[in-house]
Amino acid sequence: MSHRLNGKVALVTGASRGLGKHISKTLADAGATVIVNYANNYKNAQDMVDFIASDGGRAIAIQGDVRDEESVEKLIKQAEEKTQGSIDILVNNATGPQPVLSIEELTWQDYLAQLEFFVKAPLLLTKAVLPGMKEKKNGRIINIGSEVVQLGTPNHSNYVMAKAAQLGLTRSWANELGSFSITVNMINPGFIPVERHEAEDTSEYRSGVPLGRMGVPQDIGNAVLFLASDAGNFITGQSLSVNGGNTLGI
Ligand SMILES: NC(=O)c1ccc[n+]([C@@H]2O[C@H](COP(=O)([O-])OP(=O)(O)OC[C@H]3O[C@@H](n4cnc5c(N)ncnc54)[C@H](OP(=O)(O)O)[C@@H]3O)[C@@H](O)[C@H]2O)c1
Repeated sequence: MSHRLNGKVALVTGASRGLGKHISKTLADAGATVIVNYANNYKNAQDMVDFIASDGGRAIAIQGDVRDEESVEKLIKQAEEKTQGSIDILVNNATGPQPVLSIEELTWQDYLAQLEFFVKAPLLLTKAVLPGMKEKKNGRIINIGSEVVQLGTPNHSNYVMAKAAQLGLTRSWANELGSFSITVNMINPGFIPVERHEAEDTSEYRSGVPLGRMGVPQDIGNAVLFLASDAGNFITGQSLSVNGGNTLGI
């Protein structure tokens, strides 16, 4: 069974840093042409594109706010023009700030802010890539969720709620799109330190992980590649925890 993605076009949202950057590199290493989407940080995104190219891969940085309909339309149009093809693999990964707030502190707007990233953006992007996927009768939609849904993390219900909603749409879309051989799955990372966690102490979290280590971004890249490749042909509507077994007891 091949894990190669030659001839495929992948779009990874929020790929200028964090997990998205590593997911992009993994998919490019497997032979996909990767659209490295970013919102603000052109330099980081272009550095990633250059790094992929220096290893013999193909990637293109394209700006776009995934929460904005017009911006998503432009992003997909540019991606299709530049690759002269349509998107085969969509990885909904982008995130904005994830503020930690108690119930007393939360407003409805805080909930909406998370839904914009984890429900609205996947909807806009999926609608934009569906015509191409339906025409090919093939496609991969991979939503990056979080273990917080299983953990029920306190003081973070804004984020937990939106990730739970993302799981619901993953399952519904998987049913709806199955007859087009389009698979829809969710990958739930544990705490995977990236640039924004640089100052954080990870020892307490690590002590509870059955595999005894923190996850690294490559762990998520590997899981995305598995689901994106032919190895994932018969897997849809699933929610895969990639967290060293951290939610095993739940
Ligand atoms: N890291 C973890 O421990 C962890 C754990 C569980 C789940 N996750 C999930 O994994 C995903 C990635 O998280 P991360 O930790 O890698 O995040 P991150 O390091 O904060 O990176 C966020 C990315 O999203 C982009 N972005 C922000 N606003 C955007 C917008 N409006 N439109 C398009 N892109 C936008 C940023 O681009 P700019 O740089 O251009 O602003 C950046 O590339 C998220 O869905 C997160 O919930 C992460």
